[in-house]
Amino acid sequence: MSNDIVTIDGPSGGGKSTVSQMLAARLHYTYLDTGAMYRAVGIKIVRSDIDEKNPEQLARLLDHLDLRLTTDAAGTRVTVDGEDVSEAIRTAEMGMVASRVSAIPAVRRTLTALQQEMGRQGKIVAEGRDMGTVVFPNAPHKFYLDATAEERARRRHLQLLEKGQQSDYQRLLQQIIQRDQDDSSRDLAPLKPADDAIIIDSSTMDAEAVVRFMLERISGP
Ligand code: DC
Repeated sequence: MSNDIVTIDGPSGGGKSTVSQMLAARLHYTYLDTGAMYRAVGIKIVRSDIDEKNPEQLARLLDHLDLRLTTDAAGTRVTVDGEDVSEAIRTAEMGMVASRVSAIPAVRRTLTALQQEMGRQGKIVAEGRDMGTVVFPNAPHKFYLDATAEERARRRHLQLLEKGQQSDYQRLLQQIIQRDQDDSSRDLAPLKPADDAIIIDSSTMDAEAVVRFMLERISGP
């Protein structure tokens, strides 16, 4: 079944989401945005009055987690307990919260199981940090998409300006470096390429070039 799974891991801001969605569309696969799942759990924890360090309280929250993802051309829509949080989870602050809660073992266990369940249906492009290493170790096509921190901060900066939002490049760069550091240094499922992943440095490639390269590798010689 894992024959139909493509994994795309890498640090934040490396263009994973754009590339994963484009690749999924070309392959007619379903796009699985696992970062959105960590963000959704993050928002649920932040909005609740539980102490996330209290194992019983956290277990109760995770047991009652009603998390749904739907994907369409516009991207992934996420609902938690029936409430659409798709926009609310996309802030830089929620990215930091997601990174923090993603280091909690019970959170990872719960989301890993959910992701593997989604993967059982096959034909998915799974995007995250540990797709190729932990969640789908048998996937036949694994990619690790990287770019320099400066280039990732520059892209994010331009995106925010295009949306008419304020942006501070130096602050973004610091946040990116901090999140990379947190995501790669945690004990559990740290951010790193799987041994059998193809590493792509997209610093000087656009999304179309990356997708074309991936399609070539997937279809084989
Ligand atoms: O891809 P993203 O920026 O939406 O992810 C938000 C955070 O969630 C990221 O900093 C680390 C965490 N995450 C994770 O630990 N494992 C994944 N598979 C996906 C995201």
